[in-house]
Amino acid sequence: MPKFVDTRDESILPVDGKNIVLFHPHVPESAIEGVADTLRTRWIGQGPKVERFEEAFRLALGSGHHPVAVGSCTDAIHLAYVLCNLKPGDEVIVPVFTCTATNIPLLYHGIRIRFADAQLGTMNIDPQHVRSLITDRTRAIVCVHYGGLPCDMDELQAIATDAGVPLIEDAAQAVGASYKGVPVGAMSDFTAFSFQAIKHITTGDGGMLMIRDPQLVAKTKRIRWFGIDREAKQGGTWQNDISEIGYKYQMTDIGAAMGLAALETLDDVLALRQSILARYIGRLEGIDGIEVVGAEFKDRVHAAWLCTVLVDRRKDLERKLRDASIESGQVHFRNDRYSVFANFREGELPNMNALEERYLVLPLHTHMSLADADRVCDVIQSGW
Ligand SMILES: Cc1ncc(COP(=O)(O)O)c(C=O)c1O
Repeated sequence: MPKFVDTRDESILPVDGKNIVLFHPHVPESAIEGVADTLRTRWIGQGPKVERFEEAFRLALGSGHHPVAVGSCTDAIHLAYVLCNLKPGDEVIVPVFTCTATNIPLLYHGIRIRFADAQLGTMNIDPQHVRSLITDRTRAIVCVHYGGLPCDMDELQAIATDAGVPLIEDAAQAVGASYKGVPVGAMSDFTAFSFQAIKHITTGDGGMLMIRDPQLVAKTKRIRWFGIDREAKQGGTWQNDISEIGYKYQMTDIGAAMGLAALETLDDVLALRQSILARYIGRLEGIDGIEVVGAEFKDRVHAAWLCTVLVDRRKDLERKLRDASIESGQVHFRNDRYSVFANFREGELPNMNALEERYLVLPLHTHMSLADADRVCDVIQSGW
């Protein structure tokens, strides 16, 4: 039998004080205590802490929309698609550049995916291209706030309104972002957040769907649990009918305990992340052959999940950083390259073509300091 060879040490640097790693989970001590306390109670699956976390998250965002906590952002995105009643053959316009989690759930519904190009300066979805893809079969538009920088929401909302279709935001990377003073999670029909291991706040794995229409909330909570009305069931009514297809999308109280503790630190997390991003922007400005993606916006607040740069000779810079014990990488890849999406390749995507060989993600997380960001910038400044 072939031996399993673990090659991880060759590609991933150990956390040893000297190395600057690309990502690191943010888990405050209070989250560890919260989990330990939860494990001593009767509720470790979906229980009262999930509801407390939903409300605390809504308040932390400052949103009047309705939160439903789920097992991942992928769950939240899939739930949004279910709630939009998408049918086989319907068209949905999506960003070509995103985590595959945005688009894979559509494959379960037999949707015709229409890939929209990225914008050169932000790598977010290009509203102009979205408008050109609208047909009478368009049923939804999906946008992703890449790296934590909000998309052009006015333009996207106008296109969705004109087409009479919902706008779904994949805000996995954008907890704490806002656009023209409105928080992400308070703008469109559906917004999906992620609490996966390396996001701003983590529940191990977890997600939140923020829903605008209050009429959809009870249905969403049923679908989160097979289609069962859990409250009625827990009230002793065991003969509940199941009349719609649900699945098991729920969050657990163990995750919610982590999330409640992490939320207490969200302001500090955002401030640190934003200061590291600002340091990268300030230090890298003016260096030939490199620019920070999405550095220029005054009308929106960047949640600073990623610092992505566009560089010439990317491989050379990656190698140079690596030799200085600094990780970097691409993290996401244009989705139309994957075989599962082969049926949906159509036309050219000139901006994505131009970006494809040039983007690189630099380290940004709460286990690094401004001095670490300076070290990354020093290496870059010395040339590659
Ligand atoms: C843009 C985007 N969408 C969706 C997801 C999926 O999130 P989750 O892992 O919580 O399902 C991610 C995760 O990294 C993401 O970056």
